[in-house]
Amino acid sequence: MIILKIGGSVITEKNLVERAKIGEMRRIAKELSKKKEDLLLIHGVGSFGHPQAKKYSLNTRFHAPGLCVTHSSASRLNHIFVDILNNHFPAVSIHPFDIIIAEDGEIRKIFFEAFFEALRKGIVPVTHGDVVFDLKKGNSIISGDKLVSYFALSLTPKRVGMGTNVDGVLDEKGEVIKEITPERFKELQNIFFTSGTHDVTGEMKGKVIELLKLAEKGIESFIFNALQEGNIEKFLRGERVGTVIRSD
Ligand SMILES: Nc1ncnc2c1ncn2[C@@H]1O[C@H](COP(=O)(O)OP(=O)(O)OP(=O)(O)O)[C@@H](O)[C@H]1O
Ligand SMILES: [Mg+2]
Repeated sequence: MIILKIGGSVITEKNLVERAKIGEMRRIAKELSKKKEDLLLIHGVGSFGHPQAKKYSLNTRFHAPGLCVTHSSASRLNHIFVDILNNHFPAVSIHPFDIIIAEDGEIRKIFFEAFFEALRKGIVPVTHGDVVFDLKKGNSIISGDKLVSYFALSLTPKRVGMGTNVDGVLDEKGEVIKEITPERFKELQNIFFTSGTHDVTGEMKGKVIELLKLAEKGIESFIFNALQEGNIEKFLRGERVGTVIRSD
């Protein structure tokens, strides 16, 4: 099985509110249709969900109307994407809100069976960053990045990838860092910046931190540019793209 996350920065205009990039979604659907293995797809929500989560400060407090409009927005994007994917292969929405209970920001309970059944039946499950109920905080945000690491640690996939809007993790000069290991990461604290979009889940640094958890368990992963045509196909074929995150 392959786990792939497509960033919200790829399928939405991230500095606007609720603007989906339909053309990119169609191109991505075509590239994904070349898959030879089972695929679990996760996507970020970009300008769907992040603006609402920020407006209602869902990272730091419970807010019932905020929770509802954030979940609704994230689901809206998911349905747009899944409808496009279904023009190429069977794909089904699975919303984290419906199947996850968190506690203090961490996933406590998850109903995995829906994913397993979909995969067994040759259907691609498509899940996304979302807000979920939290036993301590009332609500918490579970990012697509976090879902990638959680699923990868639970399901031992063959390959893990995160497609985003830059060529990989970039150094001070803007060049792609070919490889990051837990040891190397300690020297890289100054390369991360905030882009000024609505992102509430840590951007590139957040991604690397999640993927280092996998590296520690011996699971290699890639951060690459999914806006660049052909990269998703390369990743699916097992070619090296972008930055690889692996153990020392
Ligand atoms: N050192 C770095 N190298 C590359 N990108 C960086 C770095 N530091 C910060 N960034 C920012 O991180 C962004 C990618 O993270 P972001 O979370 O916005 O993407 P995404 O995962 O595709 O979107 P989403 O979170 O909506 O799924 C880049 O566009 C860039 O602005
Ligand atoms: Mg992000």
